[in-house]
Amino acid sequence: MKKLTYKFSNTSTDFYFAYGIGHLKKLADPASTILITDENVYNANEKRFKGWNTMVLQAGEEFKIQATIDNIIEQLIAMEADRKTTLVGVGGGVITDITGYAASVYMRGLRFGFIPTSVLGMVDASIGGKNGIDVGVYKNLVGTIRQPAFILHDMVFLNSLPQAEWENGFAEIIKHACIKDVAMFNELEAKSLKHYQGRQTAICDLVQRNAIIKAAVVKRDEFEKGERRLLNFGHTLGHALENQYELSHGQAISIGMTYACHISEQLTGFKETEKVLTLIDKYNLPTYASFNKEKVFDVLKMDKKRERKEMNYVLLEKIGKGVVKSISLKQLEKIISNF
Ligand SMILES: NC(=O)c1ccc[n+]([C@@H]2O[C@H](COP(=O)([O-])OP(=O)(O)OC[C@H]3O[C@@H](n4cnc5c(N)ncnc54)[C@H](O)[C@@H]3O)[C@@H](O)[C@H]2O)c1
Ligand SMILES: [Zn+2]
Repeated sequence: MKKLTYKFSNTSTDFYFAYGIGHLKKLADPASTILITDENVYNANEKRFKGWNTMVLQAGEEFKIQATIDNIIEQLIAMEADRKTTLVGVGGGVITDITGYAASVYMRGLRFGFIPTSVLGMVDASIGGKNGIDVGVYKNLVGTIRQPAFILHDMVFLNSLPQAEWENGFAEIIKHACIKDVAMFNELEAKSLKHYQGRQTAICDLVQRNAIIKAAVVKRDEFEKGERRLLNFGHTLGHALENQYELSHGQAISIGMTYACHISEQLTGFKETEKVLTLIDKYNLPTYASFNKEKVFDVLKMDKKRERKEMNYVLLEKIGKGVVKSISLKQLEKIISNF
């Protein structure tokens, strides 16, 4: 158990690492708190929700849309939620994104917290205050930036996490290693998914280390003027592929990281592409993919990281050192068409 507090521009988030859902009572009054979760998390962990008002949503990225938010708002009205209500998202990144967004707009903002239940949620999606939804093929196009009051980890939830979702989450861990932490990259190379899945202390350490990498980056650059952009490594192309090809987020960004390594070779002289690809492959994630370049480029042009005719692309100088380079859309189109 470890408690850390990160101060952001106008609020702070308390992290409760490896505490357990039992501690939630100390953070939120059950009488004025509503838990939001999805059917998979709920069905596999029903007794852990006992004593809490709970809203159970359908699971899946396809429900991370405005219609779901509208539905939540109607349920909140029916439950007579008011400004004193706390919303707690208990689930993967879809649930924490939806909960943070609904909490940000209902009555112009309710207190909210997260209990991430997937590896991806614990190391990435629950942290940083970005809460959003998808619009058609455009990922996270609409949303807010607002920090949760608390993030609590209960590692027991991972017992019901499907194998494919473990792999999905390790894509973000590999991302953090590539842009920020060569020592962690080396550890991931030496160990394996089985190692982390079989040892409570190993997964606890790895999850905390990654949550801290992300929280520290966000603290230094909450509104993404500089360093926070590094967290988009693999995501520009990844997001363009994700909804068009029904890939999981982790799979899509793994392919995105693969191509970002190749673009890095051309623009920063990066020489370690093979090492990155071997690691991605070791954790059962995809590297290369054949895709319709024109269609993908059309979606990619709408990426939030675009500024007029330039795109901020995250590249690697070496493993553990990500950099942001501005590439003209023309040059990017040319590079992608040559893949
Ligand atoms: N806000 C951010 O900064 C940020 C960052 C990264 C990713 N994201 C978003 O996060 C989402 C991906 O996160 P995800 O992979 O956790 O998605 P998810 O919420 O869809 O979870 C993946 C699947 O695992 C199931 N699941 C989760 N925890 C479980 C558990 N303990 N037991 C059984 N089943 C469980 C879910 O029901 C779902 O089917 C994407 O929408 C992505 O855009 C947001
Ligand atoms: Zn991601």
